[in-house]
Amino acid sequence: MAAFNTFKLSLLLSLLSNIGLLPETSKNNVGLFPPTCNRIECPTFDVIQAGNDYEIRRYNSTVWMSTSSIQGISLVEATRTGFLQLFDYIQGNNKYEQQIEMTAPVITEVLPSDGPFCESSFTVSFYVPKVNQANPPAAEGLHVQRWKSTYVAIRQFSGFVTDYNVGEEAAALEASLEGTAWSAAIEKTRKADASSVYTVAQYNSPFEFSDRVNEIWILFDMEDEFLPA
Ligand SMILES: *[C@@H]1O[C@H](CO)[C@@H](O)[C@H](O)[C@H]1NC(C)=O
Repeated sequence: MAAFNTFKLSLLLSLLSNIGLLPETSKNNVGLFPPTCNRIECPTFDVIQAGNDYEIRRYNSTVWMSTSSIQGISLVEATRTGFLQLFDYIQGNNKYEQQIEMTAPVITEVLPSDGPFCESSFTVSFYVPKVNQANPPAAEGLHVQRWKSTYVAIRQFSGFVTDYNVGEEAAALEASLEGTAWSAAIEKTRKADASSVYTVAQYNSPFEFSDRVNEIWILFDMEDEFLPA
């Protein structure tokens, strides 16, 4: 009980420090609506808090078609490998030979390795359109992930995702969350489930060169009762 109250208090404090009391800095890292989502379906979400350098979102329930975990030393390579498999799937290479509309984002869940020469583990997923969510066709090598209501801390960055900038962007997101109640919730979630540390969400095809939006996502669980009314 005491722990819960401390938690509520620190949540309140972190909200105060992020809304109004601190000077507003540039909002470059959050709040941009990916132009891609004007053209193709993207999952909807509620913005729970817009911080200075991060945004907290809640995705109510989303369905993803995911690759098995891909071992490798390059996120870019693993994402390409996974994406080709998923692209094949939506083109009709699935149990019902059903074509599925392209959506965004494509996400890559990252479980970093322990040492510099060890392989990290990547899972690449495609957001299943609402019309297919009840019964997405099965396919060899792919599995469905159904997320319950999920909280996500996000940071946006533009340009191209590279093996060099993802780690930096993820570290910047972690740093911007430091000392907030969100950070405590993230810590707790990681202790319970270490299946991914962060996720990279990409909204553009490799051939688009302007208006590119990418996001680092850190997923966490949180009881709705701890949220501000
Ligand atoms: C998510 O669920 C809540 C509670 O049922 C609802 O108020 C909200 O509109 C939903 N958000 C989205 C994006 O569907």
